[in-house]
Amino acid sequence: MGDRKSNKEKCIGVLISGRGSNLRAIIQKIESGYLNVRIGVVISDKREAKGLKYAQEHNIPNFVIQRKAFESKEAFEEAIASKLEAFGVELVVLAGFMRILSSSFVNRFYPNIINIHPSLLPSFPGINAQAQALSYGVKVSGCTVHIVSEEVDGGPIILQAAVGVEENDTEETLSQRILEKEHTILPMAIKLWSEGRIKLHGRKVKILDQEGFVIG
Ligand code: GRF
Repeated sequence: MGDRKSNKEKCIGVLISGRGSNLRAIIQKIESGYLNVRIGVVISDKREAKGLKYAQEHNIPNFVIQRKAFESKEAFEEAIASKLEAFGVELVVLAGFMRILSSSFVNRFYPNIINIHPSLLPSFPGINAQAQALSYGVKVSGCTVHIVSEEVDGGPIILQAAVGVEENDTEETLSQRILEKEHTILPMAIKLWSEGRIKLHGRKVKILDQEGFVIG
C-alpha cells in the first residue's frame, strides 16, 4: 500500500458523519508537518455534521451526500465513490462515518480504505464499542485502525493503542481517553500508508521501517 519511493504528496479523502475530531486531528498533523498528505475532499452523509466546519475553515472541498437523496444504497455509494475518484483520492479514511459500506464500494478502494474504531478489535465491533467494553467488564480497551474489508470492523489491523479501564469510568470518560489515542494512531496510520510502509500479507499487516525492513 502506498509507494515507498515517491515523494509526491498523496491525496486522501475523509468520510465523516458527526463531530469530526479525528478529521481535525488529521488536519492538525498536516499543518504541523507530521503528515505529508493533502485532504482532497471531505464527505459527510449528515448535513448537520459538526466536523464539516473543519473542512470549511481550511478550504477543503466538502460535500454532503445523504442516503435519503437516492433511491438505493447502490446509487448513494456510487455518488460517494465517484466524488472521491473525481478528487483523485488515493486513500479513503473513514473517520466516524456511521454507515456500513457494501462489498462493491469496499472492493473499489481496497486495500486503500481504512477505519478508526474505538475498541481493541476483534473485541466489540459495531456501534457503542466503549459501552460494550464497559458492560463486559474488560480492564483494558483502546482503539484500532484497520483496513476496511467486507466484514464489518473485521479487516486487517494496522495499529492499535490500549487504554486502561478505571474503576469509576463512565462511557464518556472512557470514550474521551480512547479518543485521545485515536487522534494519535489514525494520523500515524495515514503517515505509514503515505510512506509506503504498510504491507499486506493475507490478513496480516506488516509495518516497514524507513529502509523497508519489517518492524511490526
Ligand atoms: C470515534 O470514536 C471513532 O472511533 C468512531 O466514531 C467516532 C468519531 O469521532 N468510529 P469524531 O467524529 O472523529 O470526533
